[in-house]
Amino acid sequence: MSDSDVTRVFIVGIAGAIGSRLAHLLTVDGDRVDGLYRRSEQGERLAADSIRATQGDVTRLDGPSFAELLKDTDVLVFAAGAGGKGGTTAIDAIDGAAVTTTLEAARLAGVRRLVLVSVFPEAWRGLDVSDTFEHYIEVKKKADAELAASDLDWVILRPAALTDDAGTGRISLSPALVHTRVTRDDVAAALAELVHTPQIHRQILELTQGQDHIAEAVRRQIRG
Ligand SMILES: NC(=O)c1ccc[n+]([C@@H]2O[C@H](COP(=O)([O-])OP(=O)(O)OC[C@H]3O[C@@H](n4cnc5c(N)ncnc54)[C@H](OP(=O)(O)O)[C@@H]3O)[C@@H](O)[C@H]2O)c1
Repeated sequence: MSDSDVTRVFIVGIAGAIGSRLAHLLTVDGDRVDGLYRRSEQGERLAADSIRATQGDVTRLDGPSFAELLKDTDVLVFAAGAGGKGGTTAIDAIDGAAVTTTLEAARLAGVRRLVLVSVFPEAWRGLDVSDTFEHYIEVKKKADAELAASDLDWVILRPAALTDDAGTGRISLSPALVHTRVTRDDVAAALAELVHTPQIHRQILELTQGQDHIAEAVRRQIRG
Protein backbone atom coordinates (compact mmCIF):
# COMPACT_ATOMS: atom_id res chain seq x y z
CA MET A 1 0.00 0.00 0.00
CA SER A 2 1.40 3.42 -0.93
CA ASP A 3 1.26 6.38 1.49
CA SER A 4 -1.41 8.03 -0.70
CA ASP A 5 -3.76 5.08 -0.03
CA VAL A 6 -3.52 5.59 3.73
CA THR A 7 -6.19 7.75 5.34
CA ARG A 8 -5.15 9.41 8.59
CA VAL A 9 -8.13 9.37 10.91
CA PHE A 10 -8.54 10.92 14.37
CA ILE A 11 -11.46 9.59 16.44
CA VAL A 12 -12.85 11.53 19.41
CA GLY A 13 -14.22 8.73 21.61
CA ILE A 14 -11.86 6.09 20.22
CA ALA A 15 -12.39 3.80 23.25
CA GLY A 16 -16.17 3.90 22.97
CA ALA A 17 -18.26 1.06 21.64
CA ILE A 18 -18.51 2.56 18.14
CA GLY A 19 -15.15 4.36 18.25
CA SER A 20 -13.16 1.23 19.10
CA ARG A 21 -14.96 -0.84 16.45
CA LEU A 22 -14.24 1.87 13.86
CA ALA A 23 -10.58 2.13 14.93
CA HIS A 24 -10.21 -1.63 14.54
CA LEU A 25 -11.74 -1.67 11.04
CA LEU A 26 -9.62 1.25 9.84
CA THR A 27 -6.44 -0.22 11.31
CA VAL A 28 -7.12 -3.55 9.58
CA ASP A 29 -7.63 -1.54 6.35
CA GLY A 30 -4.13 -0.09 6.75
CA ASP A 31 -5.19 3.43 7.72
CA ARG A 32 -3.33 5.45 10.34
CA VAL A 33 -5.58 5.87 13.34
CA ASP A 34 -5.30 8.06 16.41
CA GLY A 35 -7.90 9.35 18.85
CA LEU A 36 -8.78 10.49 22.34
CA TYR A 37 -9.53 8.14 25.22
CA ARG A 38 -9.79 8.98 28.92
CA ARG A 39 -8.68 6.01 31.02
CA SER A 40 -5.29 4.20 31.01
CA GLU A 41 -6.83 0.75 30.76
CA GLN A 42 -8.59 1.85 27.56
CA GLY A 43 -5.21 2.83 26.09
CA GLU A 44 -3.85 -0.61 27.00
CA ARG A 45 -6.84 -2.34 25.40
CA LEU A 46 -6.44 -0.29 22.22
CA ALA A 47 -2.69 -0.92 22.10
CA ALA A 48 -3.33 -4.67 22.38
CA ASP A 49 -5.37 -4.27 19.17
CA SER A 50 -2.42 -2.38 17.55
CA ILE A 51 -4.30 0.92 17.80
CA ARG A 52 -2.34 4.00 18.73
CA ALA A 53 -4.30 6.59 20.67
CA THR A 54 -3.85 9.65 22.86
CA GLN A 55 -5.03 9.96 26.46
CA GLY A 56 -7.06 13.10 27.00
CA ASP A 57 -10.40 14.62 27.82
CA VAL A 58 -11.89 16.61 24.96
CA THR A 59 -13.76 18.86 27.42
CA ARG A 60 -10.42 19.97 28.90
CA LEU A 61 -8.89 20.95 25.56
CA ASP A 62 -9.29 24.28 23.83
CA GLY A 63 -9.21 24.66 20.04
CA PRO A 64 -5.46 25.39 19.73
CA SER A 65 -4.36 22.56 22.08
CA PHE A 66 -6.66 20.09 20.33
CA ALA A 67 -5.40 21.29 16.91
CA GLU A 68 -1.87 20.30 18.01
CA LEU A 69 -3.07 16.68 18.16
CA LEU A 70 -4.52 16.84 14.63
CA LYS A 71 -1.35 17.43 12.64
CA ASP A 72 -1.50 15.38 9.41
CA THR A 73 -5.11 14.29 10.04
CA ASP A 74 -7.24 13.74 6.91
CA VAL A 75 -10.56 12.89 8.58
CA LEU A 76 -11.89 13.65 12.06
CA VAL A 77 -14.65 11.43 13.46
CA PHE A 78 -16.57 12.59 16.53
CA ALA A 79 -17.99 9.44 18.18
CA ALA A 80 -17.93 10.62 21.81
CA GLY A 81 -20.96 11.23 23.97
CA ALA A 82 -21.99 11.53 27.59
CA GLY A 83 -23.87 8.25 27.27
CA GLY A 84 -26.47 9.08 29.90
CA LYS A 85 -23.86 9.70 32.63
CA GLY A 86 -23.34 13.05 34.37
CA GLY A 87 -26.72 14.65 33.64
CA THR A 88 -27.21 17.82 31.62
CA THR A 89 -23.78 19.16 32.60
CA ALA A 90 -22.03 16.26 30.87
CA ILE A 91 -24.38 16.44 27.89
CA ASP A 92 -23.67 20.16 27.47
CA ALA A 93 -19.91 19.59 27.81
CA ILE A 94 -19.49 16.51 25.60
CA ASP A 95 -22.36 16.35 23.13
CA GLY A 96 -22.44 20.14 22.83
CA ALA A 97 -19.37 22.24 23.69
CA ALA A 98 -16.85 19.54 22.71
CA VAL A 99 -18.26 19.55 19.16
CA THR A 100 -17.68 23.33 19.04
CA THR A 101 -14.09 22.81 20.20
CA THR A 102 -13.62 20.03 17.65
CA LEU A 103 -14.80 22.32 14.83
CA GLU A 104 -12.40 25.04 15.94
CA ALA A 105 -9.53 22.56 16.19
CA ALA A 106 -10.32 21.20 12.71
CA ARG A 107 -10.20 24.72 11.25
CA LEU A 108 -6.95 25.56 13.03
CA ALA A 109 -5.30 22.29 11.96
CA GLY A 110 -6.57 22.54 8.38
CA VAL A 111 -8.64 19.34 8.63
CA ARG A 112 -11.43 19.63 6.05
CA ARG A 113 -13.46 16.48 6.71
CA LEU A 114 -15.42 15.86 9.91
CA VAL A 115 -17.87 12.99 10.41
CA LEU A 116 -20.19 13.49 13.41
CA VAL A 117 -22.07 10.62 15.03
CA SER A 118 -25.42 12.17 15.90
CA VAL A 119 -28.89 10.82 16.62
CA PHE A 120 -32.36 10.78 15.01
CA PRO A 121 -34.12 13.90 16.37
CA GLU A 122 -37.24 11.76 16.96
CA ALA A 123 -35.35 8.87 18.61
CA TRP A 124 -37.13 6.83 21.28
CA ARG A 125 -40.40 8.82 21.03
CA GLY A 126 -43.10 7.13 23.12
CA LEU A 127 -40.62 5.04 25.10
CA ASP A 128 -39.61 5.35 28.72
CA VAL A 129 -36.60 7.68 28.61
CA SER A 130 -34.55 9.51 31.25
CA ASP A 131 -35.35 13.05 32.51
CA THR A 132 -32.40 14.41 30.55
CA PHE A 133 -33.29 12.73 27.25
CA GLU A 134 -35.05 15.74 25.66
CA HIS A 135 -32.10 17.90 26.63
CA TYR A 136 -29.73 15.39 25.00
CA ILE A 137 -31.75 15.45 21.74
CA GLU A 138 -31.80 19.27 21.77
CA VAL A 139 -28.03 19.53 22.32
CA LYS A 140 -27.33 16.94 19.58
CA LYS A 141 -29.52 18.88 17.12
CA LYS A 142 -27.73 22.14 17.97
CA ALA A 143 -24.39 20.43 17.31
CA ASP A 144 -25.72 19.18 13.95
CA ALA A 145 -26.83 22.72 13.09
CA GLU A 146 -23.47 24.21 14.06
CA LEU A 147 -21.58 21.70 11.95
CA ALA A 148 -23.97 22.09 9.00
CA ALA A 149 -23.39 25.86 9.08
CA SER A 150 -19.62 25.41 8.92
CA ASP A 151 -17.59 25.42 5.73
CA LEU A 152 -16.06 22.01 6.49
CA ASP A 153 -16.67 18.90 4.35
CA TRP A 154 -18.90 17.51 7.08
CA VAL A 155 -21.03 14.38 7.23
CA ILE A 156 -23.65 13.98 9.97
CA LEU A 157 -24.52 10.34 10.55
CA ARG A 158 -27.65 9.66 12.61
CA PRO A 159 -27.80 6.01 13.68
CA ALA A 160 -31.07 4.59 15.02
CA ALA A 161 -31.19 2.95 18.47
CA LEU A 162 -27.90 1.10 18.95
CA THR A 163 -27.69 -2.61 19.76
CA ASP A 164 -24.77 -4.90 20.56
CA ASP A 165 -26.06 -7.70 18.32
CA ALA A 166 -23.57 -9.02 15.78
CA GLY A 167 -23.32 -6.92 12.64
CA THR A 168 -25.36 -8.00 9.64
CA GLY A 169 -23.46 -6.08 6.96
CA ARG A 170 -26.79 -4.76 5.70
CA ILE A 171 -28.23 -1.34 6.36
CA SER A 172 -30.54 1.40 5.13
CA LEU A 173 -28.84 4.78 4.66
CA SER A 174 -30.77 7.82 3.49
CA PRO A 175 -31.40 11.49 4.36
CA ALA A 176 -34.70 10.40 5.98
CA LEU A 177 -35.65 7.02 7.46
CA VAL A 178 -38.13 5.74 10.01
CA HIS A 179 -36.35 5.32 13.35
CA THR A 180 -35.73 1.66 14.24
CA ARG A 181 -32.51 -0.02 15.36
CA VAL A 182 -29.00 -0.73 14.11
CA THR A 183 -26.05 -2.68 15.47
CA ARG A 184 -22.93 -0.85 16.62
CA ASP A 185 -20.92 -3.20 14.35
CA ASP A 186 -22.85 -1.97 11.32
CA VAL A 187 -22.58 1.69 12.40
CA ALA A 188 -18.79 1.33 12.64
CA ALA A 189 -18.63 -0.37 9.23
CA ALA A 190 -20.76 2.40 7.69
CA LEU A 191 -18.49 5.03 9.28
CA ALA A 192 -15.39 3.30 7.88
CA GLU A 193 -16.99 3.36 4.43
CA LEU A 194 -17.90 7.06 4.81
CA VAL A 195 -14.35 7.88 5.91
CA HIS A 196 -13.18 6.37 2.61
CA THR A 197 -15.85 8.10 0.49
CA PRO A 198 -14.91 11.81 0.35
CA GLN A 199 -17.42 12.36 -2.48
CA ILE A 200 -20.06 12.30 0.27
CA HIS A 201 -19.89 15.61 2.05
CA ARG A 202 -22.23 18.27 3.44
CA GLN A 203 -24.87 15.57 3.85
CA ILE A 204 -27.02 14.36 6.75
CA LEU A 205 -27.60 10.60 6.60
CA GLU A 206 -29.84 8.48 8.78
CA LEU A 207 -28.89 4.85 9.37
CA THR A 208 -30.96 1.82 10.33
CA GLN A 209 -30.73 -1.91 9.85
CA GLY A 210 -31.81 -2.70 6.29
CA GLN A 211 -31.34 -4.77 3.16
CA ASP A 212 -28.46 -3.02 1.39
CA HIS A 213 -24.84 -4.09 1.62
CA ILE A 214 -22.99 -1.35 3.51
CA ALA A 215 -20.59 -0.38 0.70
CA GLU A 216 -23.46 -0.24 -1.80
CA ALA A 217 -25.66 1.78 0.58
CA VAL A 218 -22.88 4.34 1.01
CA ARG A 219 -22.06 4.45 -2.73
CA ARG A 220 -25.71 5.24 -3.50
CA GLN A 221 -25.52 8.42 -1.43
CA ILE A 222 -22.84 9.94 -3.67
CA ARG A 223 -24.44 12.92 -5.38
CA GLY A 224 -23.95 13.90 -9.01
N1 LIG B 1 -27.35 4.75 22.43
C1 LIG B 1 -28.03 4.91 21.30
O1 LIG B 1 -29.02 4.21 21.01
C2 LIG B 1 -27.57 5.95 20.31
C3 LIG B 1 -28.30 6.14 19.14
C4 LIG B 1 -27.84 7.05 18.21
C5 LIG B 1 -26.68 7.77 18.45
N2 LIG B 1 -25.99 7.58 19.61
C6 LIG B 1 -24.74 8.35 19.76
O2 LIG B 1 -23.66 7.51 19.47
C7 LIG B 1 -22.58 7.84 20.35
C8 LIG B 1 -21.59 6.69 20.43
O3 LIG B 1 -22.25 5.53 20.94
P1 LIG B 1 -21.42 4.42 21.69
O4 LIG B 1 -22.33 3.27 21.90
O5 LIG B 1 -20.09 4.23 21.04
O6 LIG B 1 -21.19 5.17 23.10
P2 LIG B 1 -20.05 4.90 24.21
O7 LIG B 1 -19.60 3.50 24.20
O8 LIG B 1 -20.57 5.50 25.47
O9 LIG B 1 -18.82 5.78 23.66
C9 LIG B 1 -18.72 7.16 23.86
C10 LIG B 1 -17.28 7.42 24.19
O10 LIG B 1 -17.14 8.84 24.36
C11 LIG B 1 -16.14 8.99 25.33
N3 LIG B 1 -16.12 10.29 25.98
C12 LIG B 1 -17.10 10.78 26.77
N4 LIG B 1 -16.70 11.95 27.25
C13 LIG B 1 -15.45 12.19 26.76
C14 LIG B 1 -14.51 13.22 26.93
N5 LIG B 1 -14.79 14.27 27.71
N6 LIG B 1 -13.31 13.14 26.29
C15 LIG B 1 -13.02 12.06 25.53
N7 LIG B 1 -13.88 11.03 25.33
C16 LIG B 1 -15.07 11.11 25.95
C17 LIG B 1 -16.46 7.94 26.37
O11 LIG B 1 -15.33 7.75 27.17
P3 LIG B 1 -15.37 6.88 28.54
O12 LIG B 1 -15.30 5.48 28.05
O13 LIG B 1 -14.15 7.35 29.24
O14 LIG B 1 -16.65 7.22 29.24
C18 LIG B 1 -16.81 6.76 25.49
O15 LIG B 1 -15.69 5.95 25.25
C19 LIG B 1 -23.30 8.14 21.65
O16 LIG B 1 -22.53 8.91 22.49
C20 LIG B 1 -24.54 8.86 21.18
O17 LIG B 1 -24.34 10.25 21.14
C21 LIG B 1 -26.41 6.70 20.54
